[in-house]
Amino acid sequence: MHPFHTIIEPFRIKSVEGLNLITREERSAALARADFNVFKLHADEVLVDLLTDSGTGAMSAAQWGALMQGDESYAGSRSFYRFERVVRDLTGFKHVIPTHQGRAAERILFHTILHPGDIVPNNTHFDTTRANIEVESAEALDIVIAEGQQPSTLHPFKGNMDVRALEALLARDAERVRLVMVTVTNNSGGGQPVSMANLRAVRALCSRYGKPFFLDACRFAENAWFIKQREPEFEHAPPREIAREMFRLADGCTMSAKKDGLANIGGFLAMNSDEWADQCRTLLILTEGFPTYGGLAGYELEAIARGLEEVVEEPYLRYRIRSTEYLAEKISAAGVPIIQPAGGHAVYLDARALLPHVAPLQYPGIALVNALYKEAGVRGVEIGTVMFGLHSDGTEAPAVMDLVRLAIPRRVYTQSHIDYVAEAVIHVAKMSQHLRGYRITSAPKLLRHFTATFQSLD
Ligand code: F0G
Repeated sequence: MHPFHTIIEPFRIKSVEGLNLITREERSAALARADFNVFKLHADEVLVDLLTDSGTGAMSAAQWGALMQGDESYAGSRSFYRFERVVRDLTGFKHVIPTHQGRAAERILFHTILHPGDIVPNNTHFDTTRANIEVESAEALDIVIAEGQQPSTLHPFKGNMDVRALEALLARDAERVRLVMVTVTNNSGGGQPVSMANLRAVRALCSRYGKPFFLDACRFAENAWFIKQREPEFEHAPPREIAREMFRLADGCTMSAKKDGLANIGGFLAMNSDEWADQCRTLLILTEGFPTYGGLAGYELEAIARGLEEVVEEPYLRYRIRSTEYLAEKISAAGVPIIQPAGGHAVYLDARALLPHVAPLQYPGIALVNALYKEAGVRGVEIGTVMFGLHSDGTEAPAVMDLVRLAIPRRVYTQSHIDYVAEAVIHVAKMSQHLRGYRITSAPKLLRHFTATFQSLD
């Protein structure tokens, strides 16, 4: 190995996209026009956009080249067979069903297999996963380990499922559990990884009770890298082999290729069950498209196939996970409270701890998101009481945590962008006692965070 410590971006830049350097006054006006909800900003009004790591990554030259190889045949496209081969080689699953993004895979799976009253346990359901289960009148149950809900507690695998809780659930209510899911990495719990030991324990319980085990595999490669770093058995294993072992333990997966597919759109559902796959394909034809394209263009299947090969390359994963950790270290060293340790795709600021004078029902996450945008043009997202606080009976209560997620798009920003973000966060943290909460002036009953309008309590 070479003697240098600097972990560099393992790519150089061939095509650039300019940033719009608008002033603080312009941002202030834009935020007011957006009713203090950053989802309503024009992306051109944002300097560093950390709203999501989903579909926002940069494709490689090889992926752009692959686009020209796309076969747009309606049925039996060559691009589908290439995509299917890559997904099969990686996951080992027999059936590969393309979809336009992750939530389409979720909807098709859950609509096909769930009955009213069923239970689907997960470490933590992502919001679309939960919604697609609840719409079938089934229950989405979160059973992450206790450490996974404590922002400052250190644990190498905070995404682990509480296997004792799973065992108790299966002993009590096995009939109602249609399948067991684990999300790698656990996005809603801070982008935290799940260990191979935990996946093995879940597998063993599922086998004992005869339950299918599915991964929500959106960030499988980042999870594999954490396993390599933190689970001694896998220290010398290539990330791809670790990923294959994770998939080998499961019976199927849902996937959003917008994350670890390194693509701007796409997803898939994969599984071993012939019976479920037949039923899922029928629904796929109804709502997504013929099974050899599933709502995607042939060129998109090509880009995903290539992306799935690049995402498990060691230099990429080393840089990827280190760049997130680097941001976390900088802001944490300045005393800004964050979920520890850093997640794979994002750093989560603890807005409730940073703004103790803003009550949860005055939305400290929104206060922090808006200040970061106004002061520095950085767009994050509130993951807290606005997102989770409104219940189906119309009552509102504080969420478990009030966080602000800074999600890092893949291969998009350089180290100086990240340095700038750290400086911005530290600057806003220093003025935090002057930040005021918000009240909601209008909001829909469902998924209100996307469209709610706010007014400052200043
Ligand atoms: N599962 C997880 C764990 C996710 O993070 C997402 C999307 C999905 C499923 C749904 O996939 O967007 O392709 O339909 N997460 C994005 C985010 C939107 O910002 O975290 P999709």
